[in-house]
Amino acid sequence: MKPSVVLYKTLPDDLRAKLDDHFTVTELSDLSPETLSRHADAFAQTEGILGSGGKVDAEFLQKTPKLRAASTVSVGYDNFDVDALNARGVVLMHTPTVLTETVADTMMALVLTSARRIVEVADRVKAGEWQGSIGADWFGVDVHHKKLGILGMGRIGMALAQRAHLGFSMPILYNARRHHEEAEQRFDATWCDLDRLLRESDFLCISLPLTEETHHLIGREQLAKMKPGAVLINAGRGPVVDEEALIAALRDGTLHAAGLDVFEKEPLSADSPLLTLPNVVALPHIGSATHETRYGMAKDAVDNLITALTGKVGKNCVNPQVLK
Ligand code: GLV
Ligand code: GLV
Repeated sequence: MKPSVVLYKTLPDDLRAKLDDHFTVTELSDLSPETLSRHADAFAQTEGILGSGGKVDAEFLQKTPKLRAASTVSVGYDNFDVDALNARGVVLMHTPTVLTETVADTMMALVLTSARRIVEVADRVKAGEWQGSIGADWFGVDVHHKKLGILGMGRIGMALAQRAHLGFSMPILYNARRHHEEAEQRFDATWCDLDRLLRESDFLCISLPLTEETHHLIGREQLAKMKPGAVLINAGRGPVVDEEALIAALRDGTLHAAGLDVFEKEPLSADSPLLTLPNVVALPHIGSATHETRYGMAKDAVDNLITALTGKVGKNCVNPQVLK
């Protein structure tokens, strides 16, 4: 008999067929308290789950006594309580490699868009405001040769450093728990503490996962230390930045602009003050959202679940120790 799994994400047809070859699949719209209670039987039987979003914690695990593997279609896994998974011996798989270059493209796009006010001026053109010659109220600030600060030098940070160093001649500062020798050798990146990163970066690019240590890592005190006129880019997880403090810093001119792909609460509320600020570019968490990359993530997630439930663990495992 094939193992039962719960799928809570729409997959391309060929990947769905592959999943069906291996498992008996119950497809749900999402992983929410509603679907959990409505499909309690499916969860009681399921050995694997595949999707993105939702909350997988000790309470969820009580409702899924047979669960052996979880496969998230994302690199981030802050919605999983990894300690609870470990205690139950549930393997967690994610998609850390396939999206790297695409997210770095998104971050570079946010750097350029924020600095040059691309969205704002394009909107003005569409509104018919380009009548005579344009004045300084249409100007932005340069990107090339400015100092790029990277907070969190993981795979995505590295791909951003490559773009900034090779394409835009930007000197690179970074802060991470460890020195990254490859970043220093290939992109001339300089490790520094958070204070220096804040004081010296023209563009502060945040690419950190959300953990207890990174929650509100950038708050009022840190924003106040930032270089006057700096631009903040966040494409990691929203709660790494204290959004209220960020709004204040954008309002009082401490920051020139912000480019945000992630928010404390998603979707971003339509009445968020962020949406009224002309110096904010807000994207709907599309860091990895290209056709190619989203297909690649779904494919990796399907393969991850198959390997995890056949007792092997591939390279994309968050907690391989549970199988030992
Ligand atoms: C997207 O935010 C991801 O974690 O893949
Ligand atoms: C993250 O990139 C870290 O090493 O802190």
